[in-house]
Amino acid sequence: MSSLNNKKALVTGASRGLGRAIAVRLAKAGADVACISRSVESVAQTVEEINALGRKAKGYAVDVADGAAVEAAVGEIATEFGAIDILVNNAGVTRDGLLMRMSAEDWDAVINTNLKGAFHWTKPVSRLMAKQRAGKIVNIASVIGLIGNAGQANYAASKAGLIGFSKSVAKEFASRGITCNVVCPGFIDTDMTKVLSEEIKKKLLERIPLQRFGQPEDVAGVVEFLCGQAADYVTGQVVTVDGGMVI
Ligand SMILES: NC(=O)c1ccc[n+]([C@@H]2O[C@H](COP(=O)([O-])OP(=O)(O)OC[C@H]3O[C@@H](n4cnc5c(N)ncnc54)[C@H](O)[C@@H]3O)[C@@H](O)[C@H]2O)c1
Repeated sequence: MSSLNNKKALVTGASRGLGRAIAVRLAKAGADVACISRSVESVAQTVEEINALGRKAKGYAVDVADGAAVEAAVGEIATEFGAIDILVNNAGVTRDGLLMRMSAEDWDAVINTNLKGAFHWTKPVSRLMAKQRAGKIVNIASVIGLIGNAGQANYAASKAGLIGFSKSVAKEFASRGITCNVVCPGFIDTDMTKVLSEEIKKKLLERIPLQRFGQPEDVAGVVEFLCGQAADYVTGQVVTVDGGMVI
């Protein structure tokens, strides 16, 4: 029997990159997955891939920054899947720029998606998990939330905020059997990082002891572990998956 057999998972930002790899990985471990993205079309391939594994999946178009839309979606998903056992807050964006030139819009867009988005999902889902007296929440932050980065003040603030948020959720819900952990990826090969110049990539690579960029699967495996029984006694932790970049 797979470790997540028949668990009901919800993954945000599941259309591509890390979210897609996480959704498929959880399905391979036996979970059914509600796949969230900004449009149903964008998440169709992930849903197909999971269905091909013999697991249930359904796509939902929800902007994670829209609290009312999230609340409605949680009700719909709980009815459709019968429960939500696992929540992975993965959806995230960047709007990079030096602070002196950073607009309030770029600040808000990143905070509202990366940080407030996690609040929007965690609040109604934790209510359901508390009733079940079980649940696993994994939030995808970033090493940038640990060490900061010039040109990413908004992104670093959102990810550092997510870490503080997760530790608080871990403490608040521990007595209800809910764990909440954070994964901090380093440089992972996805659409988000494809935009970086070759020069920046070369410099980054020099700082990675394992001498390669990460693949989405590298992150998905750690998320699967944190969602499974093997991690029942692990909560409030920040797991860095970065090839040793921030040792
Ligand atoms: N790629 C990396 O190197 C890296 C490193 C550290 C952290 N991360 C984090 O991992 C997560 C996934 O990153 P990725 O590289 O796969 O990015 P990506 O850009 O390839 O995918 C992001 C996903 O989030 C979704 N999304 C964005 N805004 C949304 C919104 N408002 N509502 C609903 N869905 C929304 C997109 O549709 C997409 O599915 C992000 O939180 C990112 O900050 C990535």
